This record gives sequence, structure tokens and C-alpha cells, in this order.
Amino acid sequence: SLKGIDLLSEIARLKKERNAVILAHYYQKPEIQDLADFVGDSLDLSRKAAATDADVIAFCGVRFMAETAKILSPEKTVILPDMDAGCSLEDSCPPEQFKAFREAHPDHIALTYINCSAAVKALSDIIVTSSSAQIILDQIPKDQKIIFGPDRHLGGYLSRTLGREMLLWPGICIVHQAFSETELLKLKAEHPGAPVAAHPECPPHIVDHADLVGSTKAILDFAINSPSQTILVATEPHIIHQMEKAAPGKTFIGVPGGDGNCNCNMCPYMALNTLEKLYVALRDLEPRIELDADTMAKARLPLERMLEMAG
Ligand code: 13P
Ligand code: SF4
Repeated sequence: SLKGIDLLSEIARLKKERNAVILAHYYQKPEIQDLADFVGDSLDLSRKAAATDADVIAFCGVRFMAETAKILSPEKTVILPDMDAGCSLEDSCPPEQFKAFREAHPDHIALTYINCSAAVKALSDIIVTSSSAQIILDQIPKDQKIIFGPDRHLGGYLSRTLGREMLLWPGICIVHQAFSETELLKLKAEHPGAPVAAHPECPPHIVDHADLVGSTKAILDFAINSPSQTILVATEPHIIHQMEKAAPGKTFIGVPGGDGNCNCNMCPYMALNTLEKLYVALRDLEPRIELDADTMAKARLPLERMLEMAG
């Protein structure tokens, strides 16, 4: 039993002993964000994973993020506190079906959102994150035909705002899909003038009301720097922890999902990671990301292209 163990000091001790770095996404529980060496969005977490000289990467996020860390740093041991931390976008895009989709459109390149399996990355030409998609698309010739997957809302948003038609895979994030336009409009009425920051994984009926559409990092920067005292946040609400730390005097309100009475704006996969599981993972170096060499080699190319093109 873990009873009586001081998790924080044990995690710190094991981290040193293992020469481990703890990377965390903004959607993690506050206590995990607070002990991480680095908290970031998908792009910055990939950059950190590629550049670290630690022997072990303890990834507090979801599996596709930890897999990305492994692919970019194959010689490192990458642990994930709970191997069941998946992603609905990954689930929506089985590799065999994605392969068939590609084969049906041989004159298209596959620009693929990082929220997918290693096998789908291995079938892709360039990976993007929400913070790097635009700068990468701007470098692709206008007449190049593009398949974009698996997030149809991010793909649709990019198509509309950049005026580029793309063939979209029909995947969605169950968390961002759940934001309620009615609840958002109620909040706007209660807080006149409060700006809305939304993630591009949200459907059009949410992003159309947003003053800022961007990655978690972009949303965080906007919320901190906005002259407004109150900011409405349409992404997973654990990011509000960083906002409150950076701008303690301001009010950050998470937009509810569903009818406003559920926790469906919270990511159930991200929530699987706990301090206890992180401690056990550092102690046992399990659960560990293992990928076959061929998939890793193939998935590495489009990820490296992303890092190169994102600058
Ligand atoms: P970013 O942090 O890159 O914006 O990604 C958001 C997300 O949904 C991760 O699962
Ligand atoms: Fe996947 Fe959505 Fe959870 Fe991000 S918030 S990990 S996209 S299910």
C-alpha cells in the first residue's frame, strides 16, 4: 500500500535517482502541473522531449503525447502513469481505414494532427499541432491537395480561415465537442464584454463566438495578457490553474459542456494520471512506451518535418 508515503518527496527522490524529467500537459491535475519540470502545449512538449538529456521521460499527458516523446527520443525510457490515457481523436482514426483513405486519394499529401496513433503518424507526410498548423500550411504550395485528419473541427477551422480546401477525416474530440453554445451565450450575457478564448477542436458554433482561437498555450497567453478582468475559457478547464497562478487577480471561467450539469468539459483520459500512479511509474519504470522499430522510424519523419517547419 502507498499509505504513509510522502508522494511528493518520493517522486522528487526517484526523479533524481532515475535522472528523469517530468513533462505535463495543461490538462493535468494541478498537483501534477505543480511538480512537473515543464508544462506545455503539444508542440512545446514535443520540443522538450526531443531536446532533453534526461534518461527517463515521465509523461503526464495522454498516450499519443508519450508516444511522440518516444519517437523523437527513441533511446530514452518513456513512462506514462496510466497506459489507458488515450484520446477520442486517436480512437476515431484506425490506421487501416486511414491507409485506405490515403490510397483512395493518391494525389493528396496527409497533413495529420498530432492527436493520433504512432501507426497513423507513420502513414502521414507532416504532423501539425494546433499551434503550428497555420505556419506549416503557409509553407505548402497552394495547389497541393491535402488530406487532413483526424480532427474535423481543427481541419474545418483551418480551411475556413486560411481559404484552403482540405479533405477532412471525420474525427472529433469528445471534450471540445461537448461545449454548449447556450451555456456560452448565458455566460456572455452575465459577463458583458468578457472575451472568449477557444480551442480549434471546438465546433464552429463555439469558435464563431471566440475572440481568440488557438492552442492551449495561445489561450493561456491571451487570458493572462488580456486587459479584461474576466475571461471565458472554452477548452479543458484544468488550464485555468496556470492562468490563476500567472494572473491571480483575474477571473477565469470555464465554459460548461452539455447542459451545464456534467463534467463533460473535462478530459476523462487526462484525468487517469494521478500522483500515486506517477510515483509507481517512476519506481517501476512501468507502464513504458514500447513501439516497433519500423513504425517509429516511419513516424519520426513527419514529426521532424513538423519541428523543422514550425521553427
Ligand atoms: P494543445 O495543447 O496542443 O493545444 O492540444 C490540446 C489537446 O487537446 C491535447 O489533447
Ligand atoms: Fe484527446 Fe480531447 Fe482529451 Fe485532448 S482533450 S486528449 S483531444 S479527448
